[in-house]
Amino acid sequence: MTIHIGAKPGDIAETVLMPGDPRRAKWAAEQFLTDPVCVNDLRGMLGYTGTWNGNRVTIHGSGMGMPSLSIYANELLRDYGAKTLIRIGSTGAMQPHVGLRDLVIAMTCSSVSTPSSTIFRELSFAPCADYGLLRAAADAAADKGVATHIGGIYSSDTFYDERPDLNEQMTRHGILAVEMEAAELYTLAARHGARALAVLTVSDHLITGDALEGRERESSFADMVQIALTAAFP
Ligand code: ADE
Repeated sequence: MTIHIGAKPGDIAETVLMPGDPRRAKWAAEQFLTDPVCVNDLRGMLGYTGTWNGNRVTIHGSGMGMPSLSIYANELLRDYGAKTLIRIGSTGAMQPHVGLRDLVIAMTCSSVSTPSSTIFRELSFAPCADYGLLRAAADAAADKGVATHIGGIYSSDTFYDERPDLNEQMTRHGILAVEMEAAELYTLAARHGARALAVLTVSDHLITGDALEGRERESSFADMVQIALTAAFP
């Protein structure tokens, strides 16, 4: 047991899918895993371990934003021996050609700061995805026929952003979409010699202002879970 995760040693699989919302972790475990067991519920942050096609998998919430994800990812990597972390979550599109429900696979993540920024001082570290996972996710998405974009994303610290000029610069530099967790996930995976990937579905559009309804979010989320599981165990 760690400060934030109540699981016993051995309760967590080497492969962990991380949605932001803990109730999504429960839903995904019940929908996709065989014999899911709840291994964490401290502070309502749910984690489940079961198997998918015979492979042991944990699905554990990350919470919203990099400070929250950083706590769970640090403990999963350092104390529970996780080797592969895949974020599954939603994202806001920043390019006209990226549509609602499309899949975005993050090759790199730009950020203003992450919880790890202080250790890099003047260096601008470039968090990037594990290439093997990225390629497998791209193949799985193509097999499923899901419209997919692969490239750079922006991991922001602010959902309600008072500096729209930053978003404009991201759009100008070809960034596909914005979310709030992946840059820290990729940085921590690099530090711990682990693999990481963020597979995201577009829930809202920063240029058009469009957004998905609840039910549409659920069906996109199911595709994303399947693609993430297939990428982890191709
Ligand atoms: N996640 C989903 N949509 C987002 C947005 N517009 N900004 C930041 N994170 C998001």
